[in-house]
Amino acid sequence: MKMMLFYKSLSLLLGFFSVKTKAEREVNIATWGTPVQSTLAYNWYAQNALDGLRSTCTHTAVQSDPWWKLDLMKTYSVNRVTITNRPDCCSDRINGAEIRIGNNSLDVSSNPVCAAVPSIPAGATYSYSCRGMEGRYVIVNIPGASKILTLCEVGVYVIFPGNLATGRTVTQSSTFGTWVGEQAIDFNPGFIQPSSSCSSTTAQTNPWWRVDLHYIYRVSSVVITNRLDCCPERIDGAEIRIGNSLENNGNNNPICAVISSIPAGVSSTYICNDMDGRYVNLFLPGDSRFLTLCEVEVYGEGPVLKKTFVKMKLKSSSSLSETEMRVQLLSQLQSALMERGFSDVMLQWSQPPTKEAMRKEDSPAQCAVRKR
Ligand SMILES: *[C@@H]1O[C@H](CO)[C@@H](O)[C@H](O)[C@H]1NC(C)=O
Repeated sequence: MKMMLFYKSLSLLLGFFSVKTKAEREVNIATWGTPVQSTLAYNWYAQNALDGLRSTCTHTAVQSDPWWKLDLMKTYSVNRVTITNRPDCCSDRINGAEIRIGNNSLDVSSNPVCAAVPSIPAGATYSYSCRGMEGRYVIVNIPGASKILTLCEVGVYVIFPGNLATGRTVTQSSTFGTWVGEQAIDFNPGFIQPSSSCSSTTAQTNPWWRVDLHYIYRVSSVVITNRLDCCPERIDGAEIRIGNSLENNGNNNPICAVISSIPAGVSSTYICNDMDGRYVNLFLPGDSRFLTLCEVEVYGEGPVLKKTFVKMKLKSSSSLSETEMRVQLLSQLQSALMERGFSDVMLQWSQPPTKEAMRKEDSPAQCAVRKR
């Protein structure tokens, strides 16, 4: 039998490091759209400008005012457009081309001009700033008679604002085929190929999806994009939950909003009135339900610096009056927290522990830590 010491009123200072994450990200969204061109020559399809290969290109017939048009399916604010000219011959055919961004699909030349292309050397890629021009269509056209439009690559670059979910860890209750959880935070709304750009669970009871923001943020809003291809009503009743607990996989955290419905392909914004949380969950109560998410965006402030004083009682057979023991205890606590996913916690004593004699016990000495 051992005499055990009972420590009371131990205070630990828990501090979260402040980390600045890169808020914006520039993404080439060209492949998220569907390209068409005014005419086709040989097998130089409109799609060849999006295949990542400089050696395969588009080609119109010889015609008046040829054009190539990319339908992005929704409005984007375009930062810049790049064009890669053909490497093999006749590089001057591109001279005089115009880059346009707008919403008019039928009359392409009525869309506002982002830039004119005086010339591009053979095989070179030139970048044209569009300064955030907004539109669903990106058009490259050459005004004039007897023209040929050939494009080997086109890039459409959009700057996405500080979405806190970007690059974070995603978990979902189950995965349907290739519809992995991360595809809900890839910026791509998946209007063309949802199976490679949206997330989905299998049909199950109470499916959920969760993003771990890694730090605690003050979340002001969450934007959910629903699928375009089918069954938009499947999202009805999904709950957006935000908080710091992983109890019930995070699905017991406070509710920001309940989604009544979102039309197919639409992005809906839910205002969360500054809820503090590290986890953002989508929880869909019910039986035989699919939770499908084409995009989840999280906006807010932070990370919120949290300093927490924790009082702990712990049983220890060794004396915490020795500095060495106190340092050792902190590192044990640190690794215990690490195992639970809190890698960014800094622990320090805010006051020396006081000890209390505890009554005799039969059980062998253990290091048990209990949070109060
Ligand atoms: C295209 O439509 C969007 C949304 O309706 C609008 O914000 C944008 O200004 C439009 N672009 C042009 C060039 O008219």
